[in-house]
Amino acid sequence: MVTICLANNKGGVGKSTSALNIGLALHSLGYRVLLVDCDAQCNLTMAFKGAISLTPNLGTLLEPNSSVTVAAAIHPIEEGLALLPSSLDVNLLEQYYGTQKGSEFLLRKGLGPVSGHYDFCIIDTPPHMSALLYAALVASNWVFIPVQPERWGYQGLKTLLDACDRTRDYYNPQLQLGGIFFTKYAASYRSRLHRDFVQQTRDRFGDADVLQVSIRTNLALAEAVSLETSIFEYAPDSHGAQDYMELTQAILHRVAAVHEH
Ligand SMILES: Nc1ncnc2c1ncn2[C@@H]1O[C@H](COP(=O)(O)OP(=O)(O)OP(=O)(O)O)[C@@H](O)[C@H]1O
Ligand SMILES: [Mg+2]
Repeated sequence: MVTICLANNKGGVGKSTSALNIGLALHSLGYRVLLVDCDAQCNLTMAFKGAISLTPNLGTLLEPNSSVTVAAAIHPIEEGLALLPSSLDVNLLEQYYGTQKGSEFLLRKGLGPVSGHYDFCIIDTPPHMSALLYAALVASNWVFIPVQPERWGYQGLKTLLDACDRTRDYYNPQLQLGGIFFTKYAASYRSRLHRDFVQQTRDRFGDADVLQVSIRTNLALAEAVSLETSIFEYAPDSHGAQDYMELTQAILHRVAAVHEH
């Protein structure tokens, strides 16, 4: 199982939308996919009908002295697709859980026994530094970073990259930066602001760390979520479906280059 987390220490940049659609794209390509929602906002969970009331869930795992395993909190969605749902009490529970020794290893240890059941595990993370973000980084092989191409887009990026360095140094030497990619990119591709920002980012981080594929602004992505359906079924010809499929192919290319050797 290759574990990938979507992270950025900034809110509203498309982490959950990306976790969902990369997961669904991989599933539609025939891979066995486990989605893990590590955010108390439960956005990834709410993309699936009825999933917000599934138990056990992430909240159950964080309860003091919980004896529930990560494996027990994974629920099948359909053949080849499963979800470890979050719950609305995660915010409170996480504060205590994070003070416990070894909290960073919750997912890494917990996912071990199920790693043979899935090809990919995709983890959605909260927009702030927290025990669950660290648990996600410690469990991951790769971190991909969605960034909105605008002036404050870098906000949070340095904090996240520092957290990745610390995670690599202390807990998970395998963690690799998969790349930065742009979300909510101007559909026309003519927006000067967005073009300039993308160029600045390439200059700053280097071409290798900035993926070629950007996700254009596309209402169908939000519509598919509110209808609790997949963009690949709801609007397969939309920019959203096209861009996330292309991004997923780029991720597969990047990941395969390492994991097949
Ligand atoms: N490419 C896109 N085109 C149009 N709307 C988008 C796109 N990507 C995301 N959105 C919308 O932007 C909002 C924020 O996206 P999302 O929830 O994925 O961000 P996030 O980084 O997970 O946010 P948070 O930090 O709160 O967890 C949502 O309403 C989502 O539907
Ligand atoms: Mg989110």
